[in-house]
This record gives sequence, C-alpha cells and structure tokens, in this order.
Amino acid sequence: MIKLSDGRNLPLDMHKVKIIQRLPFPTVEQRLAAIREAGFNTFLLRTRDMFLDMLTDSGTNAQSDAQLAASMEADDAYAGSESFYKLAEAVREVFGCEYTLPVHQGRAAEHLIAKCFVKPGHVIPMNQHFTTTKAHFVMAGGTVEEICIDEAFNTDSSYSFKGNLDIEKLKSLIFKHGADKIPFIRMESTANLLGGQPFSMANLKEVRAIADQYKIPIIVDTSLIGDNAYMIKRREAGYENRTIGEIIHEIISMADLIYMSARKSCTSRGGLIATRKKEIYDLIAPLVPVYEGFLTYGGISTREIESMAVGLREMTDEYTAGCAADLIEYFVARLSEKGVPVVTPAGGVGAHIDAMRFLPHLDHPQYPAGALAAAIFICSGVRGMERGTVSMDRDIDGTELISELELVRLAVPRRVFTLSHIEYVVDRVAWLYNHREMIGGLTFEYEPEMLRFFLGRLKPVAAGKAASNWDEKLAQAFIRDFSLDM
Ligand code: F0G
Repeated sequence: MIKLSDGRNLPLDMHKVKIIQRLPFPTVEQRLAAIREAGFNTFLLRTRDMFLDMLTDSGTNAQSDAQLAASMEADDAYAGSESFYKLAEAVREVFGCEYTLPVHQGRAAEHLIAKCFVKPGHVIPMNQHFTTTKAHFVMAGGTVEEICIDEAFNTDSSYSFKGNLDIEKLKSLIFKHGADKIPFIRMESTANLLGGQPFSMANLKEVRAIADQYKIPIIVDTSLIGDNAYMIKRREAGYENRTIGEIIHEIISMADLIYMSARKSCTSRGGLIATRKKEIYDLIAPLVPVYEGFLTYGGISTREIESMAVGLREMTDEYTAGCAADLIEYFVARLSEKGVPVVTPAGGVGAHIDAMRFLPHLDHPQYPAGALAAAIFICSGVRGMERGTVSMDRDIDGTELISELELVRLAVPRRVFTLSHIEYVVDRVAWLYNHREMIGGLTFEYEPEMLRFFLGRLKPVAAGKAASNWDEKLAQAFIRDFSLDM
C-alpha cells in the first residue's frame, strides 16, 4: 500500500506484466445461458463463458519469472530428484522444518494426516474447518469442532484477528472429551471460510500453552500463511518491525506439523507436509508412495517442485506476501463505500460479500450466497464462489446444516487482476445491490452427498418480490440500464 497525496491508500503493483491472456467478454444473454447450463453452480461454468474468474486464488496466481526459470531446471527423476532437495532446503529456510514430504495438493496432505492421526470417536478442534479438511477428518471417523471466537461471525466488524481460536471453548472441549480423544488442534492461517481472517501470534501462543499442558500436538495449515504473516505485521502490536520471514518462523516454531496447499500464498501448484519431528515424519512417509508418488516428487511434476521452492522464499518478501491483501483491502473499501455489505475487516483470499445482509428477503434454505453468486455472474460475467450453506453438506440424518455465514467470495488471485478489473466489479455489484429485490432463491435439482457444492445443480425459486424466473428478469433489467452486449 502506498499513501497518495490526498490521503487515500493505493495498492501499488510492484511488478510489471510480461505475459498476458486475452479475456472473452460474453454478453448478458450469453451469461444467462451459461449459468443456466451450469445449474446455477459457478463451479460448473467454463472459463470461455466468463470475463473475470474470481472463483479462487488456488492455482490461479501469476508466477514470477524466477519461478518459471527454476521450473526449467527440473530434474525429472522418479527417485532422488535434485528438485526435491531444493524444495527441502527452502522448507528448512522458510519454515525451519527438517523433514519435507511433497504431496499433490493441500487435500492430499489432509488425507494422509487423517489416515495417520484421526480415529473413530476423535474430536478435532480448529479455528475453522476448510471444506476438504472436514471431509477427510469426518471420513476417518472424527468430528470437527470449529471453535473460532464469536466475533468471527460478525461480518461488520473492526476486530483485527477474527481467525483466533476461542481459548475458553478449547478448554471446555478438552474437559468434555478428555485430551486422549483429541489427536491434535488445527490452526488455519488465515481462516478461509471466515473470509480469510487471520489469527494473532498472541492467540497462537495461548493455544500452544494449552496444547503443552495437555500434551496435544498442533497442526498449522499454512496454505495462506504469507497473508496471515502480513496481517500480523500490519495489525499486531510488537510485530511492525519484524520481517515476514521472522513472523513465519515464529508461527511454525509453535507447530508440531504443518501442511499446505502450495497453490495459494506460495503462488505455485502442489502441496507439502513438513515437520521438525522425525517420529511424525516416520509415521506419514510410508503413505506417500502409496497414495501420492515417490517421496521425492509426491505426485507433482518436478517443474512445480522447483517453482514451489522459489515461491516459498518469495513469499517471505513483504510485497509478495501482501500483494493480494492490499488489493483486497482496496476492493472491500470500495464496495463498502457503495453500501454493499462486505466482511470487514478485509482478510485474505478475496472480498467476501455478506449475502444475508444483501438479500434479507431470502429464507433458509433458499441458499442466499448461491443465488447471489449466480446473480453477480449474470450482471458482470464475474465468477465468484458460494461460501455458505451450499458449501456445507447435510448431517448424516439428512438435516440441512445452515451455515453461520452466507458469503460470496470474489477471490483475488495474486498479481492477476488490475485496478480496472476491481473498479468494474465494484460498479456491477453496486448496480446489483440497487436491484437486490429482484434476486430470488435457489433449490437443488441434483445434490451429491459429499462436497455437494462442487457438482450440485440448482434452479431458481421465488422469494420476496422476486419471481421464480428471477434470473431472466434480472438480465432484462440489466439490458434496460446498459445494453445487450454489455
Ligand atoms: N486448506 C486451506 C486453508 C485451503 O484454502 C485449501 C484450498 C485447502 C486446504 C485444500 O488445498 O485445494 O490444494 O487441495 N482452498 C481452495 C480455495 C480450494 O478455493 O479456497 P487444495
């Protein structure tokens, strides 16, 4: 961020564009046809049918010239690849962990961790679940307990660390179930489903103290650790003058085991598990060749391993760690100025629109966040992601689990979008907010049992003043205000 002479903050790009990809700009009629074809599920859209892809920051970040150059040095050996040793060295340097296991992405790490540590009857406390984390831990017979602080569910807040774990809730869980039923505590840095909200170092220290008292290991999900470290530097007293590298080291010093999707903060692909403890490494390592690939490639191409090694080191650079966070902060401030209800303070991953406040006329389970994501697509060609009740699976007895938060995430992949893109999205979302009564709900037509948000298909339903063909009506209103080909 840089301060302008009129006092405004500007997210300044500290890179230049070297390669570009031409984007299509489908008309509103084409967008309406595409979202219908996709069953009102943005996961089922094709990228040729959209303008800006803000589904996720996962695997969609622009890589640096150094990452691409390194990938050309890849050593394609099935076993003993030199590329792996470069990655292990980067992990030692950045995380201080002696042992590294590459895996094909974050959920692969979750799968192996679940296989090794989660047994039927286990309870796993965490600041917040991630969808794939929960799926793996539940499939292994465990129960996930999200014990974030209550403030995390206040979407209109100024609290800096809404990703904190609630210490009192942790103590009562341990008291209720007994420490032997808790294989580990999981801390997600930053808490993705809360709107990319960070935890503070002070909170992690408190969690560590309890973990020590009851001899419970801590696992940190470091997929978004660059963002969390950047927010600690900017928001936590005492860390202003610490480097991102030092902050990351301090976080990891409190973890027994870490794992990550390298597709996010690390601006690469793939994933990894790392630890300082040989006994933990020895438990997981034998599973890697069974499920992923040999220990020195873990199911990823060696090119990606090279680019991960560079991406990890680049993540400790303050600009790289914070480039998405700065643009998101700007995005959130601009949406707020227009009156659009967004999660504050701004976090990582993207701008998160609060669909409950945007669409108060929708009831559960009319999937407000799903409907809003579809409506945003119709009037802008921007693909966001539903992060609400659709993203929760039903209980074992079929009861709908209503999410505490109904968010539409407009992700900001690192170094991909420019201010003109952000201003365009702000304008179209603000237009939609002024036409919000036109948006109705959704209902499932096809609903898979697990991770239904990926493949489920929905159709529009009436809600409030909105008719069941609200999608068509909204497109017509858009054409009246803009034109056919906008
Ligand atoms: N942990 C966190 C915190 C994540 O955000 C993700 C993925 C994963 C684990 C799983 O990693 O995708 O490499 O298997 N988040 C992506 C997202 C998918 O869109 O937020 P993965």
